[in-house]
Amino acid sequence: MTDRYAVIGNPIAHSKSPVIHAEFARETGQDISYERILAPVDGFRAAVDRFRAEGGSGLSVTLPFKLEACAYATQLSDRAEAAGAVNQLKFEGADSFGDNTDGAGLVRDLESNLRVHLTGKRLLLVGAGGAAQGAIVPLLGRQPAELVVANRTVAKAEALAARFAARGPIRAVSFEKLDARFDVVLNATAASIGGECPPLPASVYEDCALAYEMMYGRGQTLFMEQALAAGAARVSDGLGMLVEQAAEAFELWRGVRPATAPVLALLRSQL
Ligand code: ATR
Repeated sequence: MTDRYAVIGNPIAHSKSPVIHAEFARETGQDISYERILAPVDGFRAAVDRFRAEGGSGLSVTLPFKLEACAYATQLSDRAEAAGAVNQLKFEGADSFGDNTDGAGLVRDLESNLRVHLTGKRLLLVGAGGAAQGAIVPLLGRQPAELVVANRTVAKAEALAARFAARGPIRAVSFEKLDARFDVVLNATAASIGGECPPLPASVYEDCALAYEMMYGRGQTLFMEQALAAGAARVSDGLGMLVEQAAEAFELWRGVRPATAPVLALLRSQL
């Protein structure tokens, strides 16, 4: 029996998850199928119930359903609870286990692929939406010297810093008051979608080993260009994070960890 998995979202046609999981399955010899499900924006629960009734084993969840998936799950991992969002569901009988692999995928891309170690480092996380929130606990888990959250709406950054204060050294700051240097700068805003860039002072990049864009696409974003111009040693987009979060999901579902480098190279060649 081939076990069925899928990615659910709206829109979903652009999703690279089917390619990634097909490659993981081939590489590890796992007998799975993996499809795309386009759910109506008001029809997440019904679509998930239907997939389960048809025997589905697990789902990847993408925009705009990560919060609804969190409410849907009967059990949550600590990291899903901290993120307040679920991007992977695993079904076992009447139970559904919700996990969030985005932050772990980010940390793995930074440390294993890009070889930038976070322990003892000064990290700047730009943004305070869902993407930023999911990254905080995994980043603090690496015991940085400090994690500073900067956001256009500073109250949202302050709320996140207050919420996660018990997890490690975290503080919020407005863009205007940002005057320190950072080893790693992470863009978790949606600014790049509109071809924009958060207004960061050039000084943040003076000792910067890596400026990381949590989105991906062909070529560099304005954030990456500005970081390089301001002195960042290196920039990366978030394609590796996409592949690593999928590898975490594959391991959750199948109990085996696939190699990610070949899949990352394949996706890069297709951008
Ligand atoms: P996501 O789930 O992708 O994080 P979100 O929850 O809508 O999406 O959050 C979007 C983030 O991008 C927010 O931090 C937002 O800043 P505000 O909280 O001030 O709205 C940030 N953002 C979006 N466009 C931006 C821009 N042009 N410049 C700076 N920040 C931007």
